[in-house]
Amino acid sequence: MTDPLSTLAILHGTDKFGYHDYTPNYFKLLAHLRDKPVKILEIGVGGYADVDRGGQSLRMWRDFFKNGEVTGIDIQKKTLDFGPRVKILQGSQVDPDFLHEVIAERGPFDIIIDDGSHRNEHIVESYHLLFPTLAPGGIYIAEDVQTSFHPRFGGSLTLDEPNSVGFFGILMQQLNTDSDDPLIQDVAGMERYHNIIALHKRDTTRADRDVFTSSLFERFEHKLPKLIFHGRDDVDLTALTKLTGPTATAQNDSAADIAIWTLSEDAPFDADILEARLSDMGDNSVLVLRSDDPAHDFDPNGEVMEYAMYRFTLVDHVEILVHYPEATIDALAPMVYSIERTHDALTFHKSPNAYPSNFAYDAKNPQASSALDQMETVLADATDEGGLVQYAEILIRHRSREAAAGILKRLEKLGATSREFYLMAGALAQRERRLDDAERLFTTALLKFKNDPQFSVMLAGVKIGKRQLETAEEILRNAHETSPRARAVIAQLIKVLTLRGNLPEAIDLARKSVTMFPQPDRPGRFVLLGQLLRQENRPDEARNAIQKALDLAPDNPDALIELAEQALIANDVQSARHLVEKVQAAHPANPSLAALLKRITD
Ligand SMILES: C[S@@+](CC[C@H](N)C(=O)[O-])C[C@H]1O[C@@H](n2cnc3c(N)ncnc32)[C@H](O)[C@@H]1O
Repeated sequence: MTDPLSTLAILHGTDKFGYHDYTPNYFKLLAHLRDKPVKILEIGVGGYADVDRGGQSLRMWRDFFKNGEVTGIDIQKKTLDFGPRVKILQGSQVDPDFLHEVIAERGPFDIIIDDGSHRNEHIVESYHLLFPTLAPGGIYIAEDVQTSFHPRFGGSLTLDEPNSVGFFGILMQQLNTDSDDPLIQDVAGMERYHNIIALHKRDTTRADRDVFTSSLFERFEHKLPKLIFHGRDDVDLTALTKLTGPTATAQNDSAADIAIWTLSEDAPFDADILEARLSDMGDNSVLVLRSDDPAHDFDPNGEVMEYAMYRFTLVDHVEILVHYPEATIDALAPMVYSIERTHDALTFHKSPNAYPSNFAYDAKNPQASSALDQMETVLADATDEGGLVQYAEILIRHRSREAAAGILKRLEKLGATSREFYLMAGALAQRERRLDDAERLFTTALLKFKNDPQFSVMLAGVKIGKRQLETAEEILRNAHETSPRARAVIAQLIKVLTLRGNLPEAIDLARKSVTMFPQPDRPGRFVLLGQLLRQENRPDEARNAIQKALDLAPDNPDALIELAEQALIANDVQSARHLVEKVQAAHPANPSLAALLKRITD
C-alpha cells in the first residue's frame, strides 16, 4: 500500500519517491501534522537554472498539508505559481540576511527541509542558521546527506569536516549532555534513515520525547506485539500501549517484535551482544537500547555512543559503496533500516535497507522494483504531467524506451508541454524513424523554449537524418550564437560541418571546445579533434591531439582506436594491430573493432 504522501509525490513527480525512498519516511515523520496549520520551508525548489521548472515537492507539500503554508527558496530565479498557499523566494541557503527576511515574512517554521545544494558545508551551515529559528516542537530534516561520502560535494569516507553525517553524528552522540550549545540542548530527538537525518526540536512546555511515542511502533497497532526484556522488565510502557494496546511476551529474540534492553551492571552494553540480538530478530522488529542514567551510559565519548556513531554512518552503506567500493561494510548494515535517538534511548529498526543509490540506480533491486510498481498503480488514471513524466524518464533510463511508449502516448493526448516530455517523445519518434513526428515535436518545443539549446540539437539531429544538412547547420549556427558555451550544440555543429566537408571550421570549433569550461580537458574532445585532423591530412597535429587524450586516460578505447587508425595510415600495421588487440582485450564488444581489424588484416 502506498501511503498518502508518497501517492502525492508520485502524482507530482518529485524524486523524493522513485529515485529515492524518502516519502514513506517523511510520512512517518510528518503524518501527525497533516491537518494542522503548519508552516513549512523547503530549501531547493528544483529545476535548477530554468525559471519555469521545479516545484514538484512544493506541490506535494501543499496538497498534503491542506491547512499548511508552504515556502520554497532557491538560489535560482523561479516564475512558478502554485496558488496562494505557496510562496517561492530567491536566495541562498547560506545567506543569513536573506534567511532572516524569509523567516520574518513567512516563519517561524514548524518544518524545515534542506534539499538544496547538498554541499556538506552548506548543509551544516544552514542547520546553524535555521535550527535556532525553528518553532518549538518543530522538525528539521537534512535530505540527501549521502553527499557526505561524495567527493564532488565535499564528502569523504573519513567524514572530514565539514561533513553532514559526521556533524549530525557527533550531535547525536552529544544529545542531552550538559552542553549549553542551543544546537545540541534544543534537540529532543533524532531519526536517521537512508540519506536522511531528522531532528526534533525540544518544546520546553512539554516533557522530553518518550522513545515509545515514536511512529516506529505504529506498525504494531492492535497487533499484540511480543516483547522481550533484557535487564529491567518494569519499564514504563504507557506511551507504547497507548499506541499498540495490550502486549505479549516473547521467549527469545527471534520471536520478539520489540526488544527492550535497559543498561545496568547486570546488563551492560556489549556491541557483539547487540548485533547478535539484532541478527536474531525478525524483519520489522525494533530493538530499544535504553538507560536510566543516560548521562553515564550515553556519555558522548563512551562505548555506546561510539557504536551509535558507527551504525549511524552505516545507515548509508549503499551510498558509501558507490564511491568507496573497497569500504568495509558489516553484515548488519543492510538489515538496519533506521536509528532513533532520544535522551534516554537508542532505537534500531530492523528491516531491509538496500534501496539503490540514485548515483547507481538499479530498477531490478527488489525495493526499487516495488516502488516502480507502486508508481504504475498510482499513475493508472493520472492526468498530472509531472508524475507521468518522471515515471517515463525512469522507465526509459532503467527499463526500456518501449516500456515508456504507452506513458508518452498518454502524455501527448493530455497535451503535455514540458521540456522533459518533448525530449522523450521526440527521441522516441526519432528512434522509431518517425522523423516527421520528431521534427514536429522538436519544432514545437523550440518555439516554446526559444533559447533552450537542447531542442536545437535534437531538431538538427532530425534534419541530419532527413539529409537536410544545410537547414541543420543553420539551426545550429543560430543556437551557437545565442548559447556559445553549449557543448552539445558545438558537438552537433562539428558533426554537421564535417558531413558538409567543412573540416577547417570543424577543427577550429573542436580546438575551442577542448579547453571549454566546465570540465575542460576531457579525453573525448581530444579524440574528436584527432579524428578531424586525421581526416584533414594533418597527421602530426592529429597524433598530438590523441597523445593528449591518452595522457588524460591511457586506456581510453576511442583514443586507442584513433591511434590505430593513424598508425594504419602511416602503414604501421604492426602498431595498429597491437592497439586493436589491446582494446579488444578490455572491450571485446566495442563496435568499431571488427571493421578496423578487417582493414588491418586486408
Ligand atoms: C534537488 S533540487 C530540489 C528538488 C525539490 N526539492 C524536489 O524535491 O522536487 C535542488 C535545488 O536546490 C537549488 N540550490 C542549489 N544551491 C542552492 C543554494 N545555495 N541555496 C538555495 N538553493 C540552492 C538548485 O537550484 C535546485 O533547484
